[in-house]
Amino acid sequence: MKIAIHKSSWGFSQDWIAYCEKQKIPYKIVNCYSSDIIQQVSDCNVLLWHHHHTLAKDAVMGKPLLFALEQAGIKVFPDFNTGWHFDDKVGQKYLLEAIGAPIVTSWVFYDKAEALKWSNEATYPKVFKLRGGAGSSNVMLVKDQQQAGRLIKKAFGNGFASYNKWGDLKEQIRKFKSDKNSYIHLLKSIRRLFVSTEFAHTVGPQKGYVLFQKFIENNSFDIRVVVIGERAFAIKRMVRKDDFRASGSGFIKYDKKEIDEKCVSIAFEVTYKLKAQCVAYDFVFDQNKNPLIVEINYGFAHEAYFPCPGYWDNKLQWHEGSFNSAEWIVENVCNELH
Ligand SMILES: Nc1ncnc2c1ncn2[C@@H]1O[C@H](COP(=O)(O)OP(=O)(O)O)[C@@H](O)[C@H]1O
Ligand SMILES: [Mg+2]
Repeated sequence: MKIAIHKSSWGFSQDWIAYCEKQKIPYKIVNCYSSDIIQQVSDCNVLLWHHHHTLAKDAVMGKPLLFALEQAGIKVFPDFNTGWHFDDKVGQKYLLEAIGAPIVTSWVFYDKAEALKWSNEATYPKVFKLRGGAGSSNVMLVKDQQQAGRLIKKAFGNGFASYNKWGDLKEQIRKFKSDKNSYIHLLKSIRRLFVSTEFAHTVGPQKGYVLFQKFIENNSFDIRVVVIGERAFAIKRMVRKDDFRASGSGFIKYDKKEIDEKCVSIAFEVTYKLKAQCVAYDFVFDQNKNPLIVEINYGFAHEAYFPCPGYWDNKLQWHEGSFNSAEWIVENVCNELH
């Protein structure tokens, strides 16, 4: 067995490499952007690649490369079941509805007149989302029909930039107020008001669809559960001040008693149905305290989970102690090959 790893300066890859070194697992570093990548992996039976939703190149060729190799019999991470719906909340709506997962009700329209008709009859507030984005960057509350109408017209007009420059600036100002060291990010965000991101240039505007969700009120936090194979871990993320959005807030609670285990149980159940290698779930709670999934995601910032005090196995037994979840990805792939 030999594992091919695409190395980045961020994400899972450096810990994958360290784990291979530690466990004496044969591996080689490959470059997924290279035209001869198929040749590069020809002496390997696994490819691990943490591709990212805001990298232009990854958006252009990440999924096609991984799925091509998978179809040819190479084990890949993320595989098709894990990755096809990555950064695509429209795809996730269909998938999670189709398997009967407990989700927040979503509406998607591909026709302006139909969307406007719906918006005239809807109650407010509702949540508007682009299909892509993370850290709450493309998620907003819609207060009334006028605002919904404006969003719908834009969705079927010029569309939305795939990078939300004003949203990002607001977020960087918020972070700067609590941590003056983040001034560099603030300066970069100001620059991006004038020079947009390579990603936004490459993928172009988001248009031709509009996605709304039912607003699940009175949630001062969301629960993020990550399932990797037969293990799960979780954090509680508090919402920003005067906001309903938790993702990206940076206010994290790690204590086990903060986590409703119903979320963990649902996360295992849905992951098995999805036959996915690794899924991060965001849950909010309805008025009866039932967890509802708002979105799923294979790629997460695993360092943020290092302070987790332990994990659950698939029998919901708790295992106390620290761990590095990136290692589990390699471990699971190796176990499947043996
Ligand atoms: N339908 C909803 N009702 C209430 N809160 C929501 C809803 N959808 C999202 N949120 C909140 O907004 C945050 C960001 O939404 P999410 O869909 O997870 O987008 P992102 O991909 O940016 O993380 C979530 O962490 C949650 O706190
Ligand atoms: Mg989220």
